[in-house]
Order: sequence, then structure tokens, then C-alpha cells
Amino acid sequence: MTLKINFKNTVSKKSLVKLVLFVDDKFNTNRLKRYISSSELSYIADILKTSDLNKNLLIFELNSKKKVILVSIKKNLKTFDIENLGAELYGHINHGKNSEYFINLDNILSNNDNFIDNFLHGLKLKSYEFNKYKSKKENRTITINVIGKRNKTSIQNQLKFKALEEGTFFARDLVSEPGNILHPDEYAKRLSALRKYGLKVNIYDDKKLKKLGMNALLGVGQGSVRGSYLVTMEWNGLRNNSKPLAFVGKGVCFDTGGYSLKPAKFMEDMTYDMAGSAAVVGLMKSLALRKAKINAVGVVGLVENMVSGNAQRPGDIVKSYSGKTIEILNTDAEGRLVLADALTFTEEKFKPKFMIDLATLTGAIIVSLGSEYAGLFSNDDKLSKQLQNAGEKVEEKLWRMPLHKNYDKLINSKNADMQNINYVGGAGSTTAAQFMQRFILKKTPWAHLDIAGMAFSKYGGALNSGGATGFGVRLLNKLIEDNYE
Ligand code: BES
Ligand code: MN
Ligand code: ZN
Repeated sequence: MTLKINFKNTVSKKSLVKLVLFVDDKFNTNRLKRYISSSELSYIADILKTSDLNKNLLIFELNSKKKVILVSIKKNLKTFDIENLGAELYGHINHGKNSEYFINLDNILSNNDNFIDNFLHGLKLKSYEFNKYKSKKENRTITINVIGKRNKTSIQNQLKFKALEEGTFFARDLVSEPGNILHPDEYAKRLSALRKYGLKVNIYDDKKLKKLGMNALLGVGQGSVRGSYLVTMEWNGLRNNSKPLAFVGKGVCFDTGGYSLKPAKFMEDMTYDMAGSAAVVGLMKSLALRKAKINAVGVVGLVENMVSGNAQRPGDIVKSYSGKTIEILNTDAEGRLVLADALTFTEEKFKPKFMIDLATLTGAIIVSLGSEYAGLFSNDDKLSKQLQNAGEKVEEKLWRMPLHKNYDKLINSKNADMQNINYVGGAGSTTAAQFMQRFILKKTPWAHLDIAGMAFSKYGGALNSGGATGFGVRLLNKLIEDNYE
């Protein structure tokens, strides 16, 4: 399926066979005379008498060719309501053969200047599909012609929305790729290609990581025939040396669990264990595309957690980049090991204003919050509030979970400075976060987002049709837009 959206100033009347028209919250048809004949209008009015007017959308087949979709603009719509409305329209036009729709701009009854942009943004996000590996591709085009004069903000916003869509789609593409294709070597290669957008990309391979002493990260990847990497992506939108905002992502390209092997049922989803890194990468791409006026850095740890004669064993002790030693009691608690080194490194090298990490870190967060909220763990109330507010606005919601020093004893080890799991059990997501906090050495404001329940959606959500969601890209973009630009 290909989606084409054209903006046109005028159009000849007889071609308007599939029309999308906006009406008010009560489906008032007074203003529609300009677009449809009076007989068609009375036909619609008749049906409306018995229709459920609480709906957002009603569809009228006027004859075998002519179709009218009325989109009801309810009172006090929030931005994401408008996005959802666009997505809902997509649900209704996404079937059958090639089709062409017309949307009239001059009938929008909203006081939101960006209405049409948000509407189309939602529609486009919903239209994403990943069919790269289908040998038979659906050869079909949906064309949407938006007719009428766009206002100034709408034209100015165009680049911003496009940047956000491309960033989100890039994140979804990366998450959707299977483990045999997007292994760490390939992933690093794709990231080096981001230089063409003006990002400064640095790739640290095994050899460099060994020199730096990132043994926590390296230990996770050592059983793989692929390399392990830390990749940094810098965006210097301010063209000065002011402190960057830092985003850190877990990029476990496949998580078998290692010797603490996962059962088959839990392993099959583990191609998306790099979704945290994909969100960071998607965000960085968006920032570069829209030339954001901020300094930011994205840091991702790319590894594959495999079983082999060279893989890490339960009981192994490694010395992390921070100098602290870790006893690996469970090789399946690998994300925190990758992030531990990535966080210490990011803090030391970039001296950021804050660090936000994203990771599909624990199954326990799915037990706690399901697929509605990502878990938020933070040492900073202000950053937490900013994140939660941004999340509410784009419907990528966050629920704050506790960190507390009393949890520390659960990860203290007899043989090393700490162990990578809590053997007493309970609070699995908090102890993982508490573990990572130990690797922030200079008290930099930090937030950890556990997105295990959010990165992938079997049945689809408001703005995705199932599969990779790209969770985090729009959230972090909103955080930046609202507070740091
Ligand atoms: N990648 C998993 C967490 C996960 C589970 C993500 C389900 C998405 C869906 C992580 O590496 C992991 O295996 N965590 C363990 C930790 C445990 C060994 C302490 C878990 O959650 O079971
Ligand atoms: Mn694991
Ligand atoms: Zn994992």
C-alpha cells in the first residue's frame, strides 16, 4: 500500500466521488450544500436521524461510486484526539482497490490552527506497515487530495511533522527487522549512514570498547559471532558548546537469555529487545531532519545475547566502565549491564544536562503496567514531571515508579560490588533501575523508561496498526519542544 497526500488549491467538481467532510459535534449538515447536491443531502439527513451521533465518523454510500464520510469534530479536542481522528479515518479507507479521497480544508470547524496537520499526522502514523519480507506486495495506492488554502502555520509545520513521522518510521523499521538481518554489525552500519543528515556519528567497536574497559557491555555480547558496539550520535543544533541533552538506548538485537536461557514462548519476541535504542535513533533522526535548536546526543549499546562456548556464564564477575564490579548471576538480566556502561560513559564524556534511557528492560513492568503506561524511574522530580506531561500530550503515557535506597541491599553481592539480579524476588523493575542508578557517578538528573510493554503491539493501537510502535520518539520530541527549545 502506498499513501499519497496532495495539497491542491482547487479541483473540478465532477471528480469529487469520495469526499471527506467535517461537521460539528452533532453532525450538522448545514454547511455541506457547497459540496453535495440537495437530494444527496436529504438522503444523508434521513439516515442521520437514526444514527449514533456520538460516533466520530459516519459513512454514506450515495451510489455505487459516490461516497461521503462525515467526520465529526467534537468539542474541546486535544491534539491527540485530532490525531486519533485521522487514524480512525485511515481505518475506514484502508481497504479495497486503489482509491482517491478528497478532504475539504475550508470546512474545518476547529479552533486548532494545526487541525489538518495533526489529523494527517495521525492518519500517516496509522498507515505504517512493514512488508519488506512479503514476496507478494499489495500493489495499491490510497490518494488523499486536500483541497483549499492552507494557513501559514500549517505550511511552516510541514517539515516538523514530516521529520517526526520519518523518525518514528525509522524506529519502527529497526524494531521490525528480524535478528538475522539487524544484528549489531548491520545496525552499526545503518547508524553510520545517519551522517548524511548532519549527525556526528562515532562507532566504538569491540576493540575500542575493550580499551575503554566497558566489560559489562562486552560480556553480554561475547557469545555472539557478531560484534558489540557503542554508537554515539551528536546533534549540535545550537552550534555552541552548551551541555547536550542525552538519550541512551538498550540495543539488544536479540535476547536469547544467554545461558540463563529463555523458554521458547518468551524468546520469540526478543527481536524487539533493541526498541529502546531504536527510539533514541528515531529521535536523533527527527531532530536532525527538523534542524532542532538544541544540542543533543544519542548513545546506544548494540549487542546480541547468545549462547556459545564463549558466552558469559552465570557467576562470572566483570569490571564495568565505572570501575565497579558486577557478579552476573543471571545472563538474562543483560540490558542493565549494557546500559550501566553506556550511562557512565555518557555522563563522563558529554556532561549532559540530563540523561534519559529507554529500554525493554523487564517483564515485570508488563506485569505492573501492561501496555498502557511505560515505567518511569528517576532521581529528579522536575524531569519526571516534564516527561509525564509530554507523555500525556502525545498519548505515550508514563507512570512513575519508585527508586529507594532500601532496595539496594537486594542487589548487593557477597563476591563483587553488586549482582545483576535480586534473588529475594519482587520489585523486578525497580531493582533493575536501582542497579543502573549505581552507574551514574555524578548525580546527573536521570530518568529510566522501561518500555517492555510499549515497544510492540500485537493488536495495534490508536496510532499504529500492530507491530512496532516507535514508542518514545514522539514523547521525547515533545519533551524537547515544550521545555528545551
Ligand atoms: N528483554 C528482557 C525483558 C523483556 C521481557 C522485554 C518481555 C520485553 C518483553 C530482559 O532482558 C529480561 O530478560 N529480563 C528478565 C530479568 C530477570 C532475569 C531478572 C525478566 O524480565 O524476566
Ligand atoms: Mn534478557
Ligand atoms: Zn533483554
